Amino acid sequence: MLTIALAKGRMQDAALGLLKRAGIRVSDEALASRRLAIEDESGRYRFIFVKPADVPVYVEHGIADCGVVGRDVLLEAGADLLQPLDLGINRCRIAVAALSEARKNDSGMLHVATKYPRVAAAHFGARGVPVEIIELSGSVELAPVLGLADCIVDLVETGRTLKENGLAVVETITESTGRLVVNRASYQLKAAEVSELIEKLSKAVAEERAKA
Ligand code: PRP
Repeated sequence: MLTIALAKGRMQDAALGLLKRAGIRVSDEALASRRLAIEDESGRYRFIFVKPADVPVYVEHGIADCGVVGRDVLLEAGADLLQPLDLGINRCRIAVAALSEARKNDSGMLHVATKYPRVAAAHFGARGVPVEIIELSGSVELAPVLGLADCIVDLVETGRTLKENGLAVVETITESTGRLVVNRASYQLKAAEVSELIEKLSKAVAEERAKA
């Protein structure tokens, strides 16, 4: 049996949809329950539903053989995992955004609020811009509005959250989509099962692309 960690939240439905297209189905009854570990109908896959940032943790430690999570989360985690497949789901970007009517900051130091401290530090560091990173766990768009930060580094999907809070993208740092990740040892020890999963998902991704 392969254990697959799925990111709960915005990616969960798209990931389950893709798995279904790949012929891996989870019963509606199991999905409707509050159980956090469920098997698929064939009994060959066990899914564990965890917070996005915990997917790389479970996979790197080998508790899950595989995982489905956004590239944004993987960049931030910096975990040592194999990434054999871009699933093409939940396409979005990590961007720097600020108030449309930017306020002047005279301190010389840019204050950046973000859920992605590592990505933000690397981005501004590469440009030689001195920053103070203010780590938040959500609703990051509030920070510039309330004067906690000059700008944010955050995920932008539709752009609606930015717009409705009076913010605009200043710069795109990188694109992100859902990825299949695999534990290094599982890739060797469960080679046949992992290859089969990659093959099934690759076909499903190609079908989704053809449909779009
Ligand atoms: C993410 C992200 C933005 C929003 C972007 O937050 O941090 O706030 O989605 O989506 P949009 O461009 O389609 O508006 P999430 O919903 O994960 O919640 P959070 O505020 O708790 O981080």
